[in-house]
Amino acid sequence: MRQTYQVVYAQYASLEALPPEDQQLVAAARGALSLAYTPYSGFCVGAAARLSNGAIVCGANFENAAYPMCLCAERSTLAAAISRHPDACVTDIAVAAATKGQLTNTPATPCGACRQVLYEAEQKFGRPIRLILQGKDHSLLVFERASDLLPLAFGSEALGSI
Ligand code: THU
Repeated sequence: MRQTYQVVYAQYASLEALPPEDQQLVAAARGALSLAYTPYSGFCVGAAARLSNGAIVCGANFENAAYPMCLCAERSTLAAAISRHPDACVTDIAVAAATKGQLTNTPATPCGACRQVLYEAEQKFGRPIRLILQGKDHSLLVFERASDLLPLAFGSEALGSI
């Protein structure tokens, strides 16, 4: 039997169309672009996480001469948030990407590894993580749960009773 998988997300034409708290988080993600260390790709990614205790934690990508060692902005931000606020949940993450000082036209969507880590974080927190992805104009995407981007995810239940 054929099955389909549908991803529902919202697209906004301008930042002003978002609620003020989302605008604030996106602004924080853009601010975090300045933290990116990208001598190899020049592709800067900034992220900002909102936590259930009201804190906002920012992070960026950090590259390495051994290319596979590059740390993505989403994962470094998540790690920073969990380390600094171990008793809180991450509720929202905004992401912005830029090259040569210009936001990318289309939003940068999380890579596969980040999707897997975001999925695990949702499982740990027991609640979804909203993703707000910013591109230049007419391209703000909002996903209500990061796991919507990872159909048929591999999770702890697959490991059985270990
Ligand atoms: N990158 C991220 O920070 N997040 C993603 O989801 C995709 C890729 C970074 C890794 C690397 O430093 C640069 O973007 C180019 O791949």
